[in-house]
Amino acid sequence: MNFREKNITIGSVVAELPKASKIFGGYGIDFCCGGHRNLDAVIREQGIPAEEIYQALEEAQREREDSYRDISLNSMSPTALSTYIEDRHHSYLREALPEIADLLSTILRVHGSKHKELFEVYRLYGMLKSDLEQHLLREETMLFPAFENEADHREEISELSAIIIGEHEAAGEVLEKLRHATGHYHIPEDVCGTFRKTYELLEELEQDLHEHIHLENNILLKQYDTRGN
Ligand SMILES: [Fe+2]
Ligand SMILES: [Fe+2]
Repeated sequence: MNFREKNITIGSVVAELPKASKIFGGYGIDFCCGGHRNLDAVIREQGIPAEEIYQALEEAQREREDSYRDISLNSMSPTALSTYIEDRHHSYLREALPEIADLLSTILRVHGSKHKELFEVYRLYGMLKSDLEQHLLREETMLFPAFENEADHREEISELSAIIIGEHEAAGEVLEKLRHATGHYHIPEDVCGTFRKTYELLEELEQDLHEHIHLENNILLKQYDTRGN
């Protein structure tokens, strides 16, 4: 739902997103008797900071989508979840990894002499890329097929899990170093659009990888994870 549209009524927002009633209550917006009124008009009439309320609604909507997504992923069979991970996250990486590598070598050539941190970013990214490429293959050729007949492959899955979770931890550490080397993906003022795009894509990759690893460690391999035992 796009809360910023002009003809959205307060009642329809609460019907779609129950948590909105709490947000509206906090701003003194009447969502019961005044539910038929347009949100946009009420915001203007009552002098409520529009951006603040739109952002609060959007945040609540995102949270709800995430929790629905987690519930449905939690109830998937390991095979279905593996297919989901492969379709969504492995495919994404197969496009993003080489694209970012090309962009990084371009910006290193153009901006490296002034932005020496790019040498370290380039080195770390190269490590992450090659580690992940073999990692994806390990999952696709060994782990995911083993789930097709999980009962017969428990021991194999358990051994693979230890390796795979270890590789996730190593990737997480490189991501942290990349974040540090790029100054939290801060884009310097004197650089070109390619530099900006590279850092934006790198940050997107970080986000996607965190989600991807969360699904594998905490859902797919949960019962095989021996860390902390
Ligand atoms: Fe994966
Ligand atoms: Fe993985």
